Amino acid sequence: MNILLLGNGGREHALAWKINQSPICQQLFIAPGNAGTSNEGINIPIEPTDFESIKDLVLDEEIDIVVVGPELPLVKGIFDYFQADEELKHIPVIGPSAEAARLEGSKAYAKQFMQDFNIPTATYQSFTKATLTEGLNFIDQQSPPFVLKADGLAAGKGVVIVDTSFEAKQELEAMLNGKFGAASQAVVIEQFLKGQEFSVFVLTDGKHYKILPAAKDYKRVGEGDRGLNTGGMGSISPVPFLTSELMKKVEQRIIQPTIKGIETRQLNYRGFLFFGLIEVEGEPFVIEYNCRLGDPETQSVLVRLDNDLVEIFEALVEGRLSEVVIEENDVQAVTVILVAGGYPEQYDKGKEIKGLETEIYDSFIFHAGTKQLGAQVLTDGGRVLAITAYGDTFQEALAACYKNAQLINFQGKYYRKDIGSGY
Ligand code: AMP
Ligand code: GLY
Repeated sequence: MNILLLGNGGREHALAWKINQSPICQQLFIAPGNAGTSNEGINIPIEPTDFESIKDLVLDEEIDIVVVGPELPLVKGIFDYFQADEELKHIPVIGPSAEAARLEGSKAYAKQFMQDFNIPTATYQSFTKATLTEGLNFIDQQSPPFVLKADGLAAGKGVVIVDTSFEAKQELEAMLNGKFGAASQAVVIEQFLKGQEFSVFVLTDGKHYKILPAAKDYKRVGEGDRGLNTGGMGSISPVPFLTSELMKKVEQRIIQPTIKGIETRQLNYRGFLFFGLIEVEGEPFVIEYNCRLGDPETQSVLVRLDNDLVEIFEALVEGRLSEVVIEENDVQAVTVILVAGGYPEQYDKGKEIKGLETEIYDSFIFHAGTKQLGAQVLTDGGRVLAITAYGDTFQEALAACYKNAQLINFQGKYYRKDIGSGY
């Protein structure tokens, strides 16, 4: 089977590594990929949202299945593009339709969905420019802190949490006046939830689902969870505080009603669904849905999945998902992200990465923002490399990650030194 994987981050390098292990996979293509994915397959310089070029590639290379890493092509309708094309419609795309991807692409849509299907989440209201006055009054009725979310995709920056109603009102006006462009034409204001966050992933055909290993992401740039939000500075799997009792609540109160909602709404969903959750005094709530796997959660999750991933994809597209038995091993996995200094704000690209050729100690080095230039590997993004290791304990895995984090160098390298600490 020839497989096309779309995306260019650490998640995609990890997916490429896992897909490439499958004896069913004949040739793997990654579009556009990065310096790391070129060790697992053939990189093709096509953007995941350039559907016409993807069509040409799929036909030329006789691709049998397309796996979509990031959300943007899904929200823009790659699934629907394939369905609507006579030459492509028989080729499965792992990912939901554009309508179903609104679970990630529109916070207002997701909140309404959760409300309709009685799925626990923070209480909320949604406002537009036409209802600004109601929004300002709503803020007056709430107590701090205030959580404001741009409705649409805003590259992970669309959530603002402030402590005073004055700031909340200013922020609401700025957002509705285009602070995040079209993404903040509508704004969700919701109740602040205090607790521990974690991520649960399922693979679904819109009716059945299989639960993959869960993970915890470290979102803030600074140690002790301080500073700006990032795409993720590290991850661990399993989640130490996710007891079987809590997981049972997650499955019964969140996963099952969500899948039921997808079925009831007749949404076309054949792909990964990511539940961003928070535990508040023992009870799980949904912070957000994503229509894809997480980055950098995927890196820690996939080393704990013993199944052949391509076999699971085959079962999914052949309507046999319910037959799949997920084989989750009990290693403890950790991922530490090396970022470019300044990230998530301004940072440099094009710095040479050294040390990749040296003996890497008991870890996987998944590339995120890198590119190959001749014999050199250069930085090409904020999150540059993901170092993933596993062991019998988090401590063992962490020791390997941090040893490698020191061996690999590029100008401005920064990483959090407290990923997984305390567990
Ligand atoms: P989101 O993009 O919706 O995942 O939000 C980004 C981050 O903002 C989350 O990972 C949380 O840390 C925080 N956040 C979002 N919604 C809430 C909420 N209702 N209460 C507390 N923190 C939140
Ligand atoms: N690590 C969070 C995300 O992928 O959205």
